[in-house]
Amino acid sequence: MIICSAPGKVYLFGEHAVVYGEPAICCAVDIRTRVSVAPADSITISSSLGTTGIDFETHPYVSAVVERFQDISSLEGVSISIESEIPVGSGLGSSAAVTIATIKALDALLGTDLELDDVARTGHEVEQRIQGAASQTDTYVCTMGGVVMIPQRKGLDLIDCGIVIGNTNIFSSTKELVANVAELNESFPDVIGPVLSSIGKMSVTGEELVNAKDYVSVGKLMNINQGLLDAIGVGCSELSSFTYAARNSGAYGAKITGAGGGGCMVAIAPHERVDGVAAAIAIAGGEVVVTKATDIGVRVE
Ligand code: MEV
Repeated sequence: MIICSAPGKVYLFGEHAVVYGEPAICCAVDIRTRVSVAPADSITISSSLGTTGIDFETHPYVSAVVERFQDISSLEGVSISIESEIPVGSGLGSSAAVTIATIKALDALLGTDLELDDVARTGHEVEQRIQGAASQTDTYVCTMGGVVMIPQRKGLDLIDCGIVIGNTNIFSSTKELVANVAELNESFPDVIGPVLSSIGKMSVTGEELVNAKDYVSVGKLMNINQGLLDAIGVGCSELSSFTYAARNSGAYGAKITGAGGGGCMVAIAPHERVDGVAAAIAIAGGEVVVTKATDIGVRVE
């Protein structure tokens, strides 16, 4: 049996703007999805959702990965089992993590010798097949780990502060939110265009600040980024309430992470303030995950 794991991720800057070619900064976080694979006579995929064969309703990403390996290898049967610490559909990269961990596990089992770049590229193609459209961000960051600037694929220094995530547990469709931003951009191109390019500029400024470990300034920029995400219509009252709770209890900064409209927010905080920030988000009604940045991308365990 082979076990592979891959991390989740948060956006420090740049979601939505990255869809328009603007830079974003993403950070792999130390919550992981583990995929075990073992030779078998037929294909079975097991997770908390149940046990299936190739099944695009229950296990779309893993099914697409299996079909991919059937094209490039002699794969006929395999038993795949998934366990995840990453909340599903919440903007923390759960689909990228399960996709990338499955690709790496099948690669190791079948000896297809994929380079990490191939793993990330295959993962992106699988996400595009299942979601219709997806940026390369999630699949690249969860393959490589660390703090990464996209689309440049530039590695930045690992951030050394607390990361506190607040989950609204409100489902939001990335596809719909991306479409809403596109519609707003078509209606008001002279207004929304500069907002998106301003978000991109935050990533450029953020790069230097992350590498200088100036988390006070990183936090200030995250707060500005949050204001602009609200401006393009991807906020909601719960996300606002959690971000203010985090800021008022000593976080450096807080913002939505991912598509918004629900899902999660992220705060960065001095290590000694993490418990207070976590408690404040919980009191505001959020499900809290306290984590840290990780430079460990996909790996065989
Ligand atoms: C979703 O996690 C992030 C978006 O920028 C979409 C994408 O990058 O594919 C909203």
